[in-house]
Amino acid sequence: MAKRTTLAQEMEFPPATEQPNVFPLSWRKGTEKMEEVWASSRREVWDPAALSWDTFDVESYTWEEREAIAYWWTLLSVFDASAPPVFASALIKTYEVHEEDAVRRCFFSVTQDEQNHEQMCGMAITKLLGYDDPVTYEPKTELGELAQRNVKWLYFNGGRYWDGYKQAVPKYPLAVLFSSFLMGEIAAATIFHQMAEGAREPVFEEAFRNIGRDEGRHMAICMALMERDYPKLDVSDRSLITKQIRAGYLFLSAVLYEPPEDFWDLPSDFIEVQRRCEAVARDAGFHIPEYDAKKENWRQAILNLKTVLDKYDIPFPAIPEVGISGEEVNDVDLEDIIPVF
Ligand SMILES: [Fe+2]
Ligand SMILES: [Fe+2]
Repeated sequence: MAKRTTLAQEMEFPPATEQPNVFPLSWRKGTEKMEEVWASSRREVWDPAALSWDTFDVESYTWEEREAIAYWWTLLSVFDASAPPVFASALIKTYEVHEEDAVRRCFFSVTQDEQNHEQMCGMAITKLLGYDDPVTYEPKTELGELAQRNVKWLYFNGGRYWDGYKQAVPKYPLAVLFSSFLMGEIAAATIFHQMAEGAREPVFEEAFRNIGRDEGRHMAICMALMERDYPKLDVSDRSLITKQIRAGYLFLSAVLYEPPEDFWDLPSDFIEVQRRCEAVARDAGFHIPEYDAKKENWRQAILNLKTVLDKYDIPFPAIPEVGISGEEVNDVDLEDIIPVF
């Protein structure tokens, strides 16, 4: 068999690699803020398995309390368990578009953090239920039964955005993709700090303190990206961002406030069941902010984002649910959901 002629036999240097290719071979410096956030992400790495689990006596809780607290962790995991693949794809995109070195590292750190949050949810649920899967778990109480039906509906709804997300990632710039992310991070950082302050169990207090600190860094990454890219934004991207914010509101409300009917397809007694679980969890020392506190927290986060967008003349969507007026956005569909926090 004749030997194949290789390019290297014919030329001294290889042809230029078509750009952009999957990864840069450069470590371009740029946004100083990203370096700072990356450095703190290294200092603040934590391990869910290393928290003080030995102080947590699950037997001291009734089955109803265990199921109610597990319900809240499961609600959180509907969001946090989808975050690792969401950020892993975004991380790949930072390489494909040859982002600054520090931006690539920051997206790597968010992927790692979200993986940690997901692990934490899994460990809490497994310990509370004595079983590692809240969907196939056999409930022990009547409230546990109802909570599980809620969980099944949350899981069904939470899985619906993935195809839309995968299509959106190659199409839009990072700063557009993650425009609603900031609002989620702001609200999440606040809610987790409140939950840490009110938690009776040291292991939950530690977890919420760590998760809240992580979300604060994610918020800073998102802000730095917006400040860098929004001044040079395409006009066509502006209306997309407005829609994106409304979509983010609808999606994230389920965990940061209460799920709106516009997006969430849920049984009519869903909220009632969730409120019952929350009341039982609160009485057992697992602090969950009350309805009004959640609403105010969510409203503040949205107003913070509005202040940022106003600076760049990006129209803000109307969010009448929390008393914010703006541009009417009615046609939110699954393609517009970027479900992260
Ligand atoms: Fe998270
Ligand atoms: Fe986050």
